[in-house]
Amino acid sequence: MHAITVPATRPYQVTIGRGLLSRAGECIGQLFPRRSVAVVSDDTVFALYGQTVMHSLEASGCTPCSFVFEHGEASKNLTTYSRLMEFLARSRLTRADVVAALGGGVTGDLAGFAAATYLRGIAAVQLPTTLLAAVDSSVGGKTAVNLPQGKNLAGAFHLPAAVFCDCAAFDSLPEHIVRDGCAEVLKYGMICDAELLRLAKTPDVCKSEAVIERCVRIKSRITAADEHDTGQRQLLNFGHTIGHAIEACSGFSCSHGQAVAAGMAYITRAAARMGLCREECAAELESTLRAFGLPVSTSIPARALFEAALSDKKCTGQDITLVLPQAVGQCVLKTMPSGCLLDFIKKGEQPL
Ligand code: GLY
Repeated sequence: MHAITVPATRPYQVTIGRGLLSRAGECIGQLFPRRSVAVVSDDTVFALYGQTVMHSLEASGCTPCSFVFEHGEASKNLTTYSRLMEFLARSRLTRADVVAALGGGVTGDLAGFAAATYLRGIAAVQLPTTLLAAVDSSVGGKTAVNLPQGKNLAGAFHLPAAVFCDCAAFDSLPEHIVRDGCAEVLKYGMICDAELLRLAKTPDVCKSEAVIERCVRIKSRITAADEHDTGQRQLLNFGHTIGHAIEACSGFSCSHGQAVAAGMAYITRAAARMGLCREECAAELESTLRAFGLPVSTSIPARALFEAALSDKKCTGQDITLVLPQAVGQCVLKTMPSGCLLDFIKKGEQPL
């Protein structure tokens, strides 16, 4: 078991190990003895782990209640958020109580946003059950729901009180869900850890405790130094500007991990074709993504991706900040007029 303390303005621990879900009561009860805990989960995850977590909370002396919603990105909206807020109020949670997000990125974002806003903010504990949530969304305090106009447009920064990552949950994950998380692991490799990109060659390696810990340490360092995403944290958006546009244009039939994979491939090929990095950099990324069965292109027209990307919150006024690779393991931020993005998308369109 590993415990990483995130040195944020309000420090918190990320505990990574096996069997943590069956000890959820002990873990949460130590921090919040005898409090009410609202377990938020989707129907798929709750069927797998809900009762284990609820029983464990009861046994520890906490008072659990559960809010279960239909799985999928389509549920990450204001309607589910408003139902969840009313549930918290009906359950009479107070400022001393806790919201526990049991699930993947959608659950963590939705439950985290409800915790950030209910009674102007109560504690959120993240219990990630997907690789993507473990290495990315459960750490750093970004919470949000989607609006019809775009992804994550209503949200808040709300640091978790703690993260308990049970790696045993990843043993039974469907292959495509693991692959989504692998895309985020490869992202860390591209932005700042070339060795990780070369080490993480298979989904089994990506979901190992060692690799998860390595990713969480990177995320912890970057997000603690820039909690509100005004500087270096934006490096974590590598592949995400085009990725979010791909997700939106596909009507969310393309998963976040697949979209980020293709987004990373687009921007890296464009950077290589503009002479900003060597072609070998794009070739190494592209062949690694292919080896994982992740997409490196889409059939969505460049203009449609560009327009979708403009409603992303990474655009400020007339400008956009892109994360550009200089080499494997080294990316930089570059702010430019938003219109330049179309050129990047067009240049990155064709696979090598
Ligand atoms: N998922 C990127 C971030 O937390 O900043």
